[in-house]
Amino acid sequence: MSCMTQLDVDGTELRDVRIRPYGVTDADRLRRMSDRLSKRSLFTRFWSGSPYIPEYYVQAMDALDHWDREAMVALLDDEMIGIAEYARDAARPYRADLAALVADPWQRRGLGRILVSCLAPLAERRGITEFNADVILENQGAMRAILVCWPDVGSALVDGAARFSLPLPMPVPVPG
Ligand SMILES: CC(C)(COP(=O)(O)OP(=O)(O)OC[C@H]1O[C@@H](n2cnc3c(N)ncnc32)[C@H](O)[C@@H]1OP(=O)(O)O)[C@@H](O)C(=O)NCCC(=O)NCCS
Repeated sequence: MSCMTQLDVDGTELRDVRIRPYGVTDADRLRRMSDRLSKRSLFTRFWSGSPYIPEYYVQAMDALDHWDREAMVALLDDEMIGIAEYARDAARPYRADLAALVADPWQRRGLGRILVSCLAPLAERRGITEFNADVILENQGAMRAILVCWPDVGSALVDGAARFSLPLPMPVPVPG
């Protein structure tokens, strides 16, 4: 599965962004994405002060089985500018943890929403009926992004983070 989309930057339509599953040649692209991530974005995604995408995460993406664990990536000029993934909960296999990361220059342009919208149907077809997303409380942007896609969900406070339970299919499709 892959799809093309157009992002609008400063009023100018951008060249095509390609969305496709994470592939076996993507590890270095993922590492290079660190160059376009602020410390804040890295912190809100990985909950640590790492100045780059942690190597454990790169290794985990390289070990995707495309069933219990899947990732969709956004590529522009062959560089990775976004990634969203799910990881199935072994104890409750109808659930999966959801996470997304968009390079700073491309945030707030609809890419996170597009990535999750491409990922969700794959998860559904694999028997997942609910995503879980844990968001640190200061990450208001991510919370708003979730509520744009799942307007009716609430969250619970778990270990100092907001935990969202997000039913599939996504209730609000990506416009256009
Ligand atoms: C959270 C994140 C994945 C969202 O991706 P994105 O491409 O920036 O989000 P989108 O452009 O798809 O946003 C969709 C909607 O969410 C809301 N939103 C997203 N980011 C927001 C922000 N920083 N402030 C306020 N609202 C925000 C907006 O309503 C937006 O729609 P609009 O721009 O038309 O108003 C991205 O900002 C990111 O990578 N952040 C750093 C890592 C992180 O925090 N990941 C989430 C925890 S796993």
